[in-house]
Amino acid sequence: MHVIGGTASTALGERVSRRLGDAPFAIPFLKRFPDGEMYLRVGGRMEGDDVVIVQSTRTDADFLELLLLEDAVREAGARRIFVVVPYFGYARQDRLFFPGEPVSARALSRLVELNADAVITVDLHSPQILSHFAKPAFEASGIPAIARALRERPVDLLVSPDRGGIDRVRRMSQLLNKPWFALEKHRLDAEHVEISVGDEPPIPLEGKDVVLVDDVITTGGTIVEAAKLLKARGARAISAACTHGLFLRDAFERIKAVTDEIYSTDTLGNPAEKASVAPDIADILRRHAAT
Ligand code: R5P
Repeated sequence: MHVIGGTASTALGERVSRRLGDAPFAIPFLKRFPDGEMYLRVGGRMEGDDVVIVQSTRTDADFLELLLLEDAVREAGARRIFVVVPYFGYARQDRLFFPGEPVSARALSRLVELNADAVITVDLHSPQILSHFAKPAFEASGIPAIARALRERPVDLLVSPDRGGIDRVRRMSQLLNKPWFALEKHRLDAEHVEISVGDEPPIPLEGKDVVLVDDVITTGGTIVEAAKLLKARGARAISAACTHGLFLRDAFERIKAVTDEIYSTDTLGNPAEKASVAPDIADILRRHAAT
């Protein structure tokens, strides 16, 4: 098995190759034509081999690179192509909200799977997106990776900033054997939320080391409001943990100002990267490649 790390996921791609028993790892040569179009080339022999491409698709250019990589690897004679998209962009538009819109998540899923034999991703915006793939598609969770990072730290209590994250925080609670509860979130607009906990938190917060668990941190609005509320209710220390750390604009600094520690996995490069999903991705690859 060969592993190719696209420019959005070079470090994670290399980690996946190591977890696959030091599978040969390569990065593509990439440049822009004078008119701005993307050119890439992949080296090495691939004829008859299984090839894994690892590329998060946070930007339009990331998507384009992934599609070109898949075509290049197919042309190079790969037997099977496993496409790993650690962070799958355009996933928020996963259904029609108003007439005339695209279902962007479905449109991009169809393109990504065109040259793939299987697709693997991590903590999708909504699990229904998997149903857009006609080919085998798998979703790894970032929760075990974060749990591995938290295992050595003092943790008393796990909190989800909203009720949509209950399955996630419950899974973390099983892995770390710690209690949990969920806050109530009301979104005001794309950047602002209101968070509440009722008159009394379901579990007392005084003197506790609390970890806020979320799938993605984007503007930071959710975590900042949740951390402020938990602190005001007596929590001793607050950590923020997420699978996908987008940290738009000054989100990282704003969260740092109200928390004691920030944890993110390596699906997107960021300053809070303290946990790797490489073992979880490699497990799925190993299982699927054996079929
Ligand atoms: C929402 O349902 C998600 O789980 C996250 O809580 C949300 O997307 C985080 O966004 P932001 O950092 O912009 O508040």
